[in-house]
Amino acid sequence: MAAGSLQVAAGKEETLAGSATRRDFLRSVGAAGGAGALYSTMSALGLAPVAEAAATEFRPPQRSDFTLSGRAAGKVIVLGAGIAGLVTAYELRKAGYRVRILEARNRPGGRNWTVRGGTTETDLDGRTQRARFSRDQYMNAGPARLPQSHVTLEYCRELGVELEVFTNQNANAYIHHENAVGSLAGRPVRWRTAKADVYGYVSELLATATDQGALDQKLTADDKERLLAFLEGFGDIGGRADDWGYTGSERRGYSVEPGAGTESGTVLGPVPSLSDVFASRIGHRFTFEFGYDQAMLMFQPKGGMDRIPYALARAVGRERIVYGAEATAVTDRPDGAEVTWRDGRGRSHTERADFVVSAIPPMIAARLDHNLGADVTAALRTPSPVPVGKIGLEYRSRWWETDEHIYGGITPTDTDLATVWYPSYGYHGRRGTLIGYYNFGADALAYGRLTHAEREARALSRGVRIHGEKYRTELAASFSIAWHRTPFIEGGWVGWESQTGPEYRRLLEPAGHVYFAGDWLSHAIAWQHGAITSARKVVTELHERVMQG
Ligand code: ALA
Repeated sequence: MAAGSLQVAAGKEETLAGSATRRDFLRSVGAAGGAGALYSTMSALGLAPVAEAAATEFRPPQRSDFTLSGRAAGKVIVLGAGIAGLVTAYELRKAGYRVRILEARNRPGGRNWTVRGGTTETDLDGRTQRARFSRDQYMNAGPARLPQSHVTLEYCRELGVELEVFTNQNANAYIHHENAVGSLAGRPVRWRTAKADVYGYVSELLATATDQGALDQKLTADDKERLLAFLEGFGDIGGRADDWGYTGSERRGYSVEPGAGTESGTVLGPVPSLSDVFASRIGHRFTFEFGYDQAMLMFQPKGGMDRIPYALARAVGRERIVYGAEATAVTDRPDGAEVTWRDGRGRSHTERADFVVSAIPPMIAARLDHNLGADVTAALRTPSPVPVGKIGLEYRSRWWETDEHIYGGITPTDTDLATVWYPSYGYHGRRGTLIGYYNFGADALAYGRLTHAEREARALSRGVRIHGEKYRTELAASFSIAWHRTPFIEGGWVGWESQTGPEYRRLLEPAGHVYFAGDWLSHAIAWQHGAITSARKVVTELHERVMQG
């Protein structure tokens, strides 16, 4: 699997690269980061060999650790109130460390950001948007789904952040491929229909080959009969007497629903040919949900993903977080470290601590005035930011529920939208907010260059081809984000060429009294789980150092 292929994507075959099959998603993650990012994502998705649950048990530092030891918890300045910074401060507070978080923005969370009515944002190009979403409507501009295996859920439990199911896969959502060939091109196909046809034809082929003896080198007579029995059910195909043929199935769905009395329903037809089904590439989408981190069930906090950072910020203590505080310099000293920062009024402050934890994006940390060494600067510059974009579209009606029976879930497309997401909250309410695109790499760059109005117009022009004119006429409000053009963030996430190389390893170690934390220093990049585990690692090492000091 070639890294970086998204950015060289060209031609019809490659236009699928911006979309979210699991393979393409991997490419997207690796677009700027190369093989290392790909490998770590593969690990996260369960493709590469990783020992499940191998992460070491975390023991939070405790006040009692200092009893009788003669040592005391020191002072720690944390740069950044994103998830890594907040968790660092939160865990250190458990042992009584004095912490101060310096956050350049005016809110906690970093990329964990929920946009609601009234949210205002000015991007790096000086363009300001103000969200006009209705009450109770929101979009999670950054993280939006939590797998059951992630430590993020433990923090939700500990902090009382209520969860609800996030629908990552929905049989009633569509797969929309415009650039494929064959009769299905440009026609949205429901996931259930796509699965019925792909599983059906694959089963027909494998059963035929098996029964004709093509696999006799591999299978005993008993194996063959067992495999054939499995395939009959898996593909809903005819038996031996019917030449194992796939002729459609109620799994496709119905054009007339079964109902009362004599209404037995009409199965959706006609069944496309085997050739058209494979030409459409719809089956390429299925593997996404096989991924370790993308499989249902998934979860989201009720009311918005930012319930997590706000709960953490409350637990750390409002008085310990300075908003509008932009760090400009970090200086390691023989017995501690110093941070210089600018407040919202442009005044400069210098503050001393025993330790500093830099939990800001690496490319931004690289620009700090510091004495940590040229190798640290070079290492911080090594990972590449990945462009990522999203648009939230609020509609006056929930037409996807009322007209199309879609309650949550995602429609992948091979357009530059990549994916369209239906909300997993507010069912049957009056209004609802879709994610109209969530794209990466070249597609995110293309949208990022546009004004918000142009992004909206472009997203709508693609969306109407899936859902019809109501996609335009029912729109009430929208808000878009280009993470790579967002101040103090500058990327959706970063990708590493190598997570075994000297640069990555350098930043896992402190530079004097200065530590680094973030999802970018984990094997769960682009997940809060990565930020949290990285923060826990730093907290553990820092605390052990204090205890041994
Ligand atoms: N973790 C991010 C997602 O699931 C990349 O989309």
